[in-house]
Parts: sequence; C-alpha cells; structure tokens
Amino acid sequence: MLERINETTEFLKAKGIINPDAGIVLGTGLGGLTEKIENRIEIDYKDIPNFPVSTVEGHDGKLIFGDFGSKKIVAMKGRFHYYEGYGPGQIALPVRVLKYLGIKCLFLSNAAGGLNPSFRIGDIMIITDHINLLPNPLIGQNDDRIGPRFPDMSEVYNRDLIDKALLIAQKHNIRIHKGIYLSTSGPTFETPSEYRYFRVIGADAVGMSTTPEVIIAHHMKMPCFAVSIITDLGVEGKIEYTTHESVQYHAARTESLMTTIMTEMISSL
Ligand code: HPA
Repeated sequence: MLERINETTEFLKAKGIINPDAGIVLGTGLGGLTEKIENRIEIDYKDIPNFPVSTVEGHDGKLIFGDFGSKKIVAMKGRFHYYEGYGPGQIALPVRVLKYLGIKCLFLSNAAGGLNPSFRIGDIMIITDHINLLPNPLIGQNDDRIGPRFPDMSEVYNRDLIDKALLIAQKHNIRIHKGIYLSTSGPTFETPSEYRYFRVIGADAVGMSTTPEVIIAHHMKMPCFAVSIITDLGVEGKIEYTTHESVQYHAARTESLMTTIMTEMISSL
C-alpha cells in the first residue's frame, strides 16, 4: 500500500507538485474554484500512476496545483465514488497521496439533498459530523505507518476551521448552517421514505461522497473541513423530481459563495 502511495507521490513531485499547504476535493458542479489557481500545473487522473479515473459528468478528473492567494494548494477536480464501482483502496489512494505530498489540511465540498426543514436550495451547510452508510474505506489490511487499526472518530471535523468558516460567512452575509451529513452509496437519489428515515436517524443532509475521503484523512490525523451545497430538498411536501443536471445547476449557482469561504479560510491558514 505504502509503496503505491510513494510511487504516486514521487511521480507528482517530479511533475512539480512541491510543498502544497492544503488539499481540496471538489464535488459535483463545484470545480470552478480551481479557476482561481495561478501558476498552475494540471495533470489528468488518467496520466497519474495508481490513480483511478473519474467517470462522472461534471467531474473533470484532474489534479490541479498552484498558487491560491498566498498559499499553494492541490485540488482534486473530480472525485471517486463507490457507485462508480471503485473499491476502498482506490478511493483511499488519492487522499493518502495528498497527505504524503505534504498538505496540512483537507477541504472538501459536495452537493447534497437537504433533510433539515429549515434548509433552502442554495444554502451552504458546514459539516460538523457525519453518519457513514457507505462501506468503510479502512476495511482491509491496516498499515500502522499510515494510521491506527481502530481510529477514534469523536471529533472528525476540525472545530477551529468550522468557527473560522462561520465568521467568514457572517462577514459576507452568506446564509449558512451547521449540520450532520449522511452518505449513502447512490446512484439513486432517495425515495421520500428514505429521506424521512435519514432525517429520523439524525442527518441534516444526504449525499453520495465525502465521508470516505474524510475517514481516510482522519485516519492520518489530517484536519478536515467540509461543506455541502444544498441542491434539492428531501423534506415532505418539498420533494421534487431530481436529476444530475438539476444538482449541477444548483451547485453551480452557489459555488461562488463557497469559493469565497474556502478562499478566505485557506489564506488564513
Ligand atoms: N441525495 C443523495 N445525493 C445527493 C442528493 C440527494 O438528494 N442531492 C445531491 N446529491
């Protein structure tokens, strides 16, 4: 496992990805943040040894490195989901490589269905905790050099980063919530009964990603910050026909607000 991580890390260093301060994983329709990266190096996932290839429309499948304000970031534009058929090892490798490249924090975004009745389409939710209903990406042999067999999960989302995001949102008058993200495999969206069930068990938003990457990062003691953009509502009386296109459309409309928050957070690292 470590050999493959090292091979990919060395490949990327040789391409010029040196000393990134932070990593970002961008969700459906949220890749535009990468346009603000200057002096960039872009590498297609298909050209990176050991990397899986992203198969979803709206997910580009590129690693982008460069200057983001005063910091250096490496962004994954396009991520890997279980519904594409990838296994835990394939989902884990890119996040582990980001850590071995030297990132100090991992930022993540996703598009999600809102379950909390106070949410509106276009709202941003800061993830404060999660309910992982996907296969745990740490299932399998553990390498103690990477992290412990049985990782603690009592505080996965970094509190200081959450506080910082709240202040930034307040300063810019951005409507923002804190809440619990539940991940499910997809690729189906939920039935009304499933939405109700996920709300009953404590979730504020539901999506098909993020928790695997966060679990892998937290296993390596990497501070994580994640946000959901609410692209549809799984609330009784407000459920509408949902498509990948409608999710992309609503994600793209809120993207600039999310970018404002992420940009200020990264510059204050
Ligand atoms: N459910 C699951 N995943 C999603 C949703 C949803 O309602 N919206 C965006 N991603």
